[in-house]
Amino acid sequence: MAVYEIVKIGDPVLREKAKTVTKFNANLGRLMDDMYDTMVAAKGVGLAAPQIGISKRVVVIDVGDGRIELVNPEILEAEGSQIDVEGCLSIPDFQEEVNRSQRVKVKAQNRNGEEYVIEGTGFLARALQHEIDHLEGVLFVDLLDKNVPTRE
Ligand code: CO
Repeated sequence: MAVYEIVKIGDPVLREKAKTVTKFNANLGRLMDDMYDTMVAAKGVGLAAPQIGISKRVVVIDVGDGRIELVNPEILEAEGSQIDVEGCLSIPDFQEEVNRSQRVKVKAQNRNGEEYVIEGTGFLARALQHEIDHLEGVLFVDLLDKNVPTRE
């Protein structure tokens, strides 16, 4: 087990388009275990690899219903809308309401490279969208239409 330091807003790695994972090996499994431990230690519900300084398309989520691991995730469908308060481990002490899709269908690979599809509504849908945004270098503050003090 290893707990990484979480990269904060202003670090350029958070703005990169993360690289597709092509090697499904023990290193990837270890990375995902460490990301999960880091997320839990930080009391978060989701973490993307760029948040620990690793620009790869890897996400872990746990909104209370168990661990979800996504490698190379892709949103296939999105519908509806919901507005709720959102935060990010890379943007400490800041929360704001964000408009997200109410339901998403996501295609991803697991740590063994096997493809699967996951559907989420409500808070899980929000977490999926937030974490997948991280892989594109997008932070939730980018989605706000007002001026945000912590913005770069
Ligand atoms: Co975040």
